[in-house]
Amino acid sequence: MKKSLLTVAVVLGIASVSKAQTKIPPDIEKLLQKNTCLACHKVDTRLVGPAYVEVMKKKKYKPEQIVELIYKPNPKNWEGYPPMAALSNVPKDEALKIAKWISTLK
Ligand code: HEC
Repeated sequence: MKKSLLTVAVVLGIASVSKAQTKIPPDIEKLLQKNTCLACHKVDTRLVGPAYVEVMKKKKYKPEQIVELIYKPNPKNWEGYPPMAALSNVPKDEALKIAKWISTLK
């Protein structure tokens, strides 16, 4: 009995972890906020720009490609959206951290 309760707890724990996958890790959220990404992007819903999960679903970018697109967006990739402004002032290491995280989204 005790054991099955424990199993339930573990299963629930796993379920809530996988559900939390579209949650932004705190260190990444800080970078997204600082670099204004959050003004136009959400993880799983369209805002001004496409949701990050949508970006990965459609394009399956490598982190380096995402970094490139932060500095030099290609609006042709996203018809029906306004063009994203080039964000050349995002520090490279921060852009890479953000890009690595985006590339893990499903
Ligand atoms: C002013 C609004 C705005 C801001 C700020 C903004 N974006 Fe965007 N983003 C867009 C829009 C609109 C698109 C779709 C059109 C385009 O790609 O130009 C887009 C597209 C993207 C794409 C897909 C690129 C492609 O070509 O497939 C990525 C990745 C992205 N943004 C990441 C970021 C990150 C990371 C930041 C912060 C460093 C950021 N964006 C800040 C509006 C914004």
